[in-house]
Amino acid sequence: MPIIDYEGDKQKVRSTAGRGETFGTIMARRVNRRGLLRGTAAASALIVTGPRLMPHQASAQATPEAATATTLSFEPIALDEQDEILVATGHRVTPFLRWGDPLFADAPELDLANQTADSQAQQFGYNCDWIGFLPLPQGSTTSDHGLLVVNHEYTNPELMFPGYLIPNPAAAAATPEAETDIPAFLASPTKEIVDVELEAHGLSIVEIRRSDAGEWEVVRDSEYNRRITATTPMTLVGPAAGADLLKTADDATGAEVLGTLNNCAGGTTPWDTIISGEENFQQYFANLGMLAEDDPIRVMHDRYGLTEEASERLWEQFYDRFDLSKAPNEPFRFGWGVEIDPFDPASTPKKRTALGRNKHEGHTSVVAPGGQVAIYSGDDERFDYAYKFVTTGSYNPDDRAANMDLLDEGTLYVAKFNDDGTGEWISLIQGEGELTEANGFASQADILINTRLAGDAVGATKMDRPEDFETNPINKKVYLALTNNSRRSLEETDKANPRAENLHGHIIEISEAGDDHAATSFAWDIFILAGDPAQGSTYFAGYDSELVSPFSAPDNIAFDASGNLWLSTDGMPRNLPGNDGLFAVPTDGEERGYVRQFFSSVPGAEVSGPEFTPDNTSLFASIQHPGEGGSFDEPVSLWPDGEGTARPTVVVIQADSGGRIGASD
Ligand code: FEO
Ligand code: CA
Ligand code: CA
Repeated sequence: MPIIDYEGDKQKVRSTAGRGETFGTIMARRVNRRGLLRGTAAASALIVTGPRLMPHQASAQATPEAATATTLSFEPIALDEQDEILVATGHRVTPFLRWGDPLFADAPELDLANQTADSQAQQFGYNCDWIGFLPLPQGSTTSDHGLLVVNHEYTNPELMFPGYLIPNPAAAAATPEAETDIPAFLASPTKEIVDVELEAHGLSIVEIRRSDAGEWEVVRDSEYNRRITATTPMTLVGPAAGADLLKTADDATGAEVLGTLNNCAGGTTPWDTIISGEENFQQYFANLGMLAEDDPIRVMHDRYGLTEEASERLWEQFYDRFDLSKAPNEPFRFGWGVEIDPFDPASTPKKRTALGRNKHEGHTSVVAPGGQVAIYSGDDERFDYAYKFVTTGSYNPDDRAANMDLLDEGTLYVAKFNDDGTGEWISLIQGEGELTEANGFASQADILINTRLAGDAVGATKMDRPEDFETNPINKKVYLALTNNSRRSLEETDKANPRAENLHGHIIEISEAGDDHAATSFAWDIFILAGDPAQGSTYFAGYDSELVSPFSAPDNIAFDASGNLWLSTDGMPRNLPGNDGLFAVPTDGEERGYVRQFFSSVPGAEVSGPEFTPDNTSLFASIQHPGEGGSFDEPVSLWPDGEGTARPTVVVIQADSGGRIGASD
């Protein structure tokens, strides 16, 4: 989701205009083991098309040799600000699943004037984010039939409900000097509105099928279709389950939770479950300031940014569990990676405490050579950390049931990026190093519940909003998208976060020692420093910056079967004049670093969750929070319907040829 202090960032842009650091200054701080710009060679290589892949090489089992080939052949589109989605020539894009679309045979259509919790619970949720495509039958590589699993990160009640925002009398009465601190509008939720919001959160699991005519459709009477919401019962499992900090008046076991919140990025496991990350859970809770200042629980919550006073959403007015003065431990039950089996509609979602607690992103799984499963995830906050979890047990490809609790036992690591281009995964184990009872970590549960404090204690590297964290299936490297960090000062820069006031974000490329994803050391390099090359201080893996598409705020990433990196952005218009979009860039070969814009969204929206079918002929993406910045009554977008209000929507992109996305076949 966008970082809240939008205005603050905008002001920073203005204040730094014309005095940004030079490219040279930043390059001097970054590790560059690849040599300096290869601009001329890269520019001339532009007109040379790399060897084409045969169709069989485009499968998920693409050979390493494919890494030398560039398969992208589309003409980039330009930055755009229209209330219309655009895609590169040779492709078509279709709004597929909109907020409020019925997911069951007897579910009602969206009714903006009369939305109820009951109807919302049977419809596609709000603010679609991460998307997983899991082929049907389970375990196959089918690309025209599967389950779409979609996170619904949060709600924008000001866009969902007419009249939700009311003028703030205090703002009208304020003196001009005080005006900037007083919101012009106030929220006016009712219990009915909050109940709709609770059901609009969570996830949707939807069976979908591509017709012979090539159009995707929802199977409304599917036995798999399911809504998981902020009121769905789920369990806390793993080493921290049952810990005192997880117990509440409603749940003496410390293991039974109602719902999941702020599900942002996610991942699919090799055994075809999904892990959904709970990101900015802090925003739902109110009144931290009512706990005593020396209450250790207050200190813990403070590290996760909980609100001192009323929450913006005011859910605490209707439900005590969102009021810290009444339920001080409830926030400890959010901020987890939630594993869900979409193939078993009766299954209970499990919050896997072994993965630690933070503002979870990513959750890409990869099987290491030794059989363990590594799961990468970022903690999306300015100056927070990148993590990896490695299972103790091994993945069993022949017995799905044997993998179902693999995530309960393993080692959680946090990343330290050294300035010499090496890095370490520091294990977070109770009793080791600084993680002792004397330092506040009396048990492994203390580490897993207060993972950020453990990262602080071991000296992990403070990153520029680590978001998606994905492995490249071809070159085996791991890529970490760092969205931005306008607050980093020059003194706080290091070689992995080399820009002061990093408005545009960057991408780091990590090579695990021996290409072993269970390794505890790695090498790293800067892959891209994003931004508008015309404004300087950008870097595109050495590719000629005059030839790339400008972009800002890389957020979610995905790889096609040829190892090209596709990235979606969150926050472009803040710092570049264009809607958020989708971009593709080769990671190897002569066009490594050649970023091309493929898709453009609509005002107020971020693009998230890009997900390919296994054969790469369909690409799903979420258009999240279209119209954000406006309101139901004063919209800045009415996409996709052109009336009513904007609706967060999953779109599907296909090539006119029926071939692979972005390629010319
Ligand atoms: Fe929900 Fe980190 O974006
Ligand atoms: Ca995101
Ligand atoms: Ca991703």
